[in-house]
Amino acid sequence: MTDSYAVFGNPIAHSKSPYIHRQFAEQTGQELAYTKQQVNEGEFEQAADAFFAGGGKGLNVTVPFKLDAYGYAARLTPRARRAGAVNTLAKQPDGTLLGDNTDGIGMVNDMHNLGWEIAGKRVLLLGAGGAVRGVLQPLMEQEPASVTIANRTVHKAEQLSKGFADLGVIEPVGYENLSQKEPFDLVINGTSASLSGELPPLPDDLLAEGAACYDMMYAAEPTPFLAWAESHGAEQRADGLGMLVGQAAESFYVWRQVRPEVIPVITAMRHTLSAKKGA
Ligand code: ATR
Repeated sequence: MTDSYAVFGNPIAHSKSPYIHRQFAEQTGQELAYTKQQVNEGEFEQAADAFFAGGGKGLNVTVPFKLDAYGYAARLTPRARRAGAVNTLAKQPDGTLLGDNTDGIGMVNDMHNLGWEIAGKRVLLLGAGGAVRGVLQPLMEQEPASVTIANRTVHKAEQLSKGFADLGVIEPVGYENLSQKEPFDLVINGTSASLSGELPPLPDDLLAEGAACYDMMYAAEPTPFLAWAESHGAEQRADGLGMLVGQAAESFYVWRQVRPEVIPVITAMRHTLSAKKGA
């Protein structure tokens, strides 16, 4: 029987995960089925039970179910425990379910593919919600010179700082204090502000010479944050399309122990996005 995988979310209609995983399967010669499933809020457990009882091998889990998946997994990888959220469930040979989180490593790998250095850099994260928490451990493992988290609600940044203190120093700040800081080499937007076309209030002198700006969101047009980055002299800019494909590649690896090539898939998806923009 063909191994079966799926992504659960709500909404799910526009999920690119089936496309990405089918590309990976084709590229690596793996035979598998991958579908998307809209799950009603409050019904994650029921839907996951049915999926795995029917022989399912693994799930990707997206908004709003990453916390449900965290609670559902019988065992968690250290990075999922740190992230406090699960985006990948994998049926193990002994029948138990492993919960993993591949978002952070997906982002770090994307930065490597872009030729960006994290080690030794002054890193600023914008936002202190699930998206930022999800990437902190893999990011800190790259040994940046410093990590600062700016958030509208400062105490959430303080909580993250405390929660990750054993991995290194994280300085929590409010946006109003950013102008007193030395400029940053790498600024990562993990707020959901772009969704509403907004931008956190950033000072004009935020970026160091040669700085790179990364938005975890992606879109056909530059996001508000990346437009700001361009007008403030960021030398390098990238949106989260590579992170999306990167987290999928790591999930594929967790399930199949085969690591697919991400670049051809990112290139094809970027092409489709640009074509839609032009249409
Ligand atoms: P996610 O799981 O996507 O991170 P979340 O946990 O709701 O979602 O977190 C959203 C983040 O975006 C938070 O850091 C939020 O700031 P607050 O904690 O102060 O609410 C941030 N955010 C959302 N809209 C924003 C805006 N317009 N300007 C600045 N920050 C914003």
